[in-house]
Amino acid sequence: MQRITGENLAKQFIDTQIEALRSQIGNSKVLLALSGGVDSSVVAALLIKAIGKNLVCVHVNHGLLRKGEPEQVIKVFRDQLGAELIYVDAVDRFLDKLAGVSDPEQKRHIIGKEFIDVFAEEAAKLQGIKFLAQGTIYPDILESKDGIKAHHNVGGLPPELDFELVEPVKLLYKDEVRVVGKALGLPDNMVFRQPFPGPGLGVRCTGAITRERLEAVRESDAILREEFAAAGLEGKVWQYFTIVPDYKSTGIKDGKRSYEWPVIIRAVNTRDAVTATVPQLPIDLLEHITARIISEVKGVNRVLFDMTPKPTATIEWE
Ligand code: XMP
Repeated sequence: MQRITGENLAKQFIDTQIEALRSQIGNSKVLLALSGGVDSSVVAALLIKAIGKNLVCVHVNHGLLRKGEPEQVIKVFRDQLGAELIYVDAVDRFLDKLAGVSDPEQKRHIIGKEFIDVFAEEAAKLQGIKFLAQGTIYPDILESKDGIKAHHNVGGLPPELDFELVEPVKLLYKDEVRVVGKALGLPDNMVFRQPFPGPGLGVRCTGAITRERLEAVRESDAILREEFAAAGLEGKVWQYFTIVPDYKSTGIKDGKRSYEWPVIIRAVNTRDAVTATVPQLPIDLLEHITARIISEVKGVNRVLFDMTPKPTATIEWE
């Protein structure tokens, strides 16, 4: 298959897929878990073009999304593209289940299982759904076949959800999905979004998650993203985010002793996430981000920058 490298090829792909989707689906209904990530967003935009209101999107807010993400999904898909979108506010449900759980793998397990439960409950409420659309891409299939990782997109849903699969981007690589997304008119910050783990901010609020500390992760992450974008680093640094660990240190605020959390900044460059290096960043940018975080984020009195390549460190802290 010819690689999709530009707008014309993307448009050809879109036209062919619309035909193929229409003939596969007919007048049936299709369900899609829309996370706001590149792959599921492109699949949603393709299906909206192909079958319109017969696509039902479910966006689950598990409380671990970045600042502004659920709002953007609603704005782009419901308001601009006219999608049939079910928004599920499952924040309390996830955070209650996660309360007091400090083991990273147990946290991942709870988030993954709860997600499937919420999605299955929503699916059970709907009538006449025959198909399930997924944003599986080619590397997911390769990695699952080689047993490298059990990807969430391949398998994973409970057997009682007896759907036929619709996977329109399963032969594409990530860069091709982005070109198609752009040709479909999706916004740049969705199409060129940096990778974001399934368990979201949950693995960046280390140890047992609390709502206050999670808010510190979300607010500091938003400041970091805003400042990287303003400095022209968006799309140049592969992944960048903040972590708020579950311990405090002593500081001084308003002339008084403070005992608050640190924020750790992580920024990495990599090709495949197997190894990663830390980019050199302008010190005045880091100083400016530090000043904003300590003045704007509640409960924080210190900012650190993680200098460690992978290996020995992993990209995420958990
Ligand atoms: P690590 O921390 O293993 O991360 O160096 C490599 C890449 O994978 C992402 N990552 C995850 N993605 N579920 C995901 O979907 C996860 O549990 C998970 N853990 C790490 C990480 O953000 C980085 O891009």
